[in-house]
Amino acid sequence: MKYHPIDPALFVKNRAKFTAKMKPGSIAVFNSNDIYPIGADSTMPFEQARDLFYLSGADQEETILLLFPDAIEPKHREILFVRETNEHIAIWEGAKLTKEKGYEVSGIKTVYWLKDFEKIFFGLMTEADTVYFNTNEHYRQSVETQTREDRFIKWCKEKFPAHKWEKSNPILQNIRGTKEPREIALIGQACKITGKGFRRVLEFVKPGVWEYEIEAEYMHEFLRNRSRGFAYTPIVGSGFSACVLHYIENNQQCKDGDMLLMDVGAEYANYASDMTRTIPVNGRFTARQKEVYSAVLRVKKEATKMLVPGTLWGEYHQEVGKIMTSELLGLGLLDKADVQNENPDWPAYKKYFMHGTSHHMGLDTHDYGPLKTPMQANMVFTVEPGIYLPGENMGIRLEDDVVIQEQGEPLNLMQDIPLEIEEIEEYMNK
Ligand code: GLY
Ligand code: MN
Ligand code: MN
Repeated sequence: MKYHPIDPALFVKNRAKFTAKMKPGSIAVFNSNDIYPIGADSTMPFEQARDLFYLSGADQEETILLLFPDAIEPKHREILFVRETNEHIAIWEGAKLTKEKGYEVSGIKTVYWLKDFEKIFFGLMTEADTVYFNTNEHYRQSVETQTREDRFIKWCKEKFPAHKWEKSNPILQNIRGTKEPREIALIGQACKITGKGFRRVLEFVKPGVWEYEIEAEYMHEFLRNRSRGFAYTPIVGSGFSACVLHYIENNQQCKDGDMLLMDVGAEYANYASDMTRTIPVNGRFTARQKEVYSAVLRVKKEATKMLVPGTLWGEYHQEVGKIMTSELLGLGLLDKADVQNENPDWPAYKKYFMHGTSHHMGLDTHDYGPLKTPMQANMVFTVEPGIYLPGENMGIRLEDDVVIQEQGEPLNLMQDIPLEIEEIEEYMNK
């Protein structure tokens, strides 16, 4: 791991939050991700299953976490199973979690080798009535591959057909949505690294640079700051490409006079950051670019003020839509008739701003978190309005990550990252 060790007290607390919601006599099991194959003996870099990481801090393949608060033997109330390591593995793959190290990262006293899982699990299942399975119910999920978790669920249902099943996901959606101070610090660190990348890019960008060169500048700064890299596939789109919402080719040359949209974020210790900045390739905004940029910035500032305890995500989006509508009227992009005749299911502003304004952010970029109950302190949200004008070869989006406070406006974890027109021009021309 490139990141500094995390105090296991975070994972101890996360487990306590989870087990407090479990039914009596129940076991919950969480599996690591697989290492996904590419071809021949090539594999994708390993990414830990976020739920397992959240509950254990174990950042290694072939790992299982078992929680059984009512186990008769106290040592079996929480168990971490890790792949047995040996000298051969240590030479070829590097140090893996030993039993001692497993305890150190997770705070779990009972660490067994994975090869013993079935035997131990069978014994514990005779004490339990119910098993919690960890299915993925994220509102945007779309998974075609069978995960290690899926294989476990299939195996378990066949092996233990007389047990009852429960879902871990609703519990995780709730507890992961509200962040611990230690998590906010880790997200803050990811944001800080992203900011360093952006400053580097402000000095680098000029007419003629290629989008992939800009991507490389970010990566350089991320890696040298102990990040593994991008938290999600970066979007570096100049001119028209900024209007393609999921543009990830990043293969065009940046032209004098164009705007450049960059939706990039560093990960740190598996925590994401999610930033968007849009800058003029030549370091000076035209009057038109300033006008549209300022409109987006005003919407962002107004939207941010609404991220307070009690706000409902759905209503918030409607309010942001109204603010955006008024800005688009001001820009002459909509007229009164467009608004009067609008379809309530697809309001007029959506022609220029067709995506959401905010999502939960954390271990996953589009993180778990409740969306139908009122917002609470210590939830982390993005704020990311945009105006896309393909006819003008210009798309502008601005995005920061903020933490809801008990009182007052949210804390902006990206408040030090240049955003105002003057700051950006000054930085690009110094
Ligand atoms: N970078 C993905 C998003 O902004 O939601
Ligand atoms: Mn983003
Ligand atoms: Mn986002």
